[in-house]
Amino acid sequence: GDDSDLSVRPPVVTVMGHVDHGKTRLLDALRSANVGDKEAGGITQHIGAYQVTTDVDGTDRRITFIDTPGHEAFTSMRARGAQATDIAILVVAADDGVMPQTVEALNHAKAAGVPIVVAVNKIDKESADPTKVRGQLSEYGLVPEEYGGDAMFVDVSAKSELNLDKLLEAVVLTADASLDLRANSEQDAQGLVIEAHLDRGRGPVATVLVQRGTLRVGDSIVAGPAYGRVRAMLDEHGENITEADPSRPAMVLGLTATPGAGQTFLVVDDDRMARQIAEKREARERAAMQAKRRV
Ligand code: GTP
Ligand code: NA
Ligand code: MG
Repeated sequence: GDDSDLSVRPPVVTVMGHVDHGKTRLLDALRSANVGDKEAGGITQHIGAYQVTTDVDGTDRRITFIDTPGHEAFTSMRARGAQATDIAILVVAADDGVMPQTVEALNHAKAAGVPIVVAVNKIDKESADPTKVRGQLSEYGLVPEEYGGDAMFVDVSAKSELNLDKLLEAVVLTADASLDLRANSEQDAQGLVIEAHLDRGRGPVATVLVQRGTLRVGDSIVAGPAYGRVRAMLDEHGENITEADPSRPAMVLGLTATPGAGQTFLVVDDDRMARQIAEKREARERAAMQAKRRV
């Protein structure tokens, strides 16, 4: 219970912005992956969560990234992403400028009270106009430091891998300057469901973000109205892990059903208690749904 149980956790950074402004490609570049290549039509439709270890000024820093979709249909995912995060990276394509979901994302981040780092992307393009982006965002109250404001803007190219180190530095600076990133890793784990789906071979698979405590294989958990014993956990590379500490995203196998994205999870004493809590939650949801139908 006291402060001495707290240890520093990595910052959780959500990448937000208008459709096709390069959020996924930027994340791919930051973590040397290629998720973007596998997306249907190149449109992100789920929230993804990854932890990377990166060298900033000669020190290894862990950062958790959450990728959100920019398509206008996915407002609730953007809102959830903003609520689960410590810092928002607002990606704006320098050729396209500020667009409707840029403003929407900005408002989600403001509503959640999280600091914003602006990544002005695609500066490799001939039509790129990063100065225009700065002017546009200033009108929304996001005034660049070089204009006397307090927002950090970094010009980047995900394609040419330009200034990615500067972007990471801005994130780490923001984390160190303005956030208290401490969490108790000793207690029973709790956190958020980022995404969940039914896998044909593995059953329900939930990507969770641990916010407090350490989640371990064998733990009994409740996740929304679903429950179960953690049978296995995978990291972002699909590798088995046995535990997940604060700020770590993990894919959890062993739930009875798929919980809803944005629902909370927690570790409880045993399977029996997990089932009881899950049943109560389900009954509450059913009652709420029936009440809604009546009006
Ligand atoms: P949604 O998730 O669907 O909102 O899109 P996104 O913001 O994740 O964009 P995505 O990473 O899918 O990139 C959209 C397109 O822009 C792809 O064709 C990328 O290859 C391209 N792109 C991304 N970053 C850059 C860049 O820095 N320069 C150039 N020239 N193209 C880029
Ligand atoms: Na896209
Ligand atoms: Mg994407």
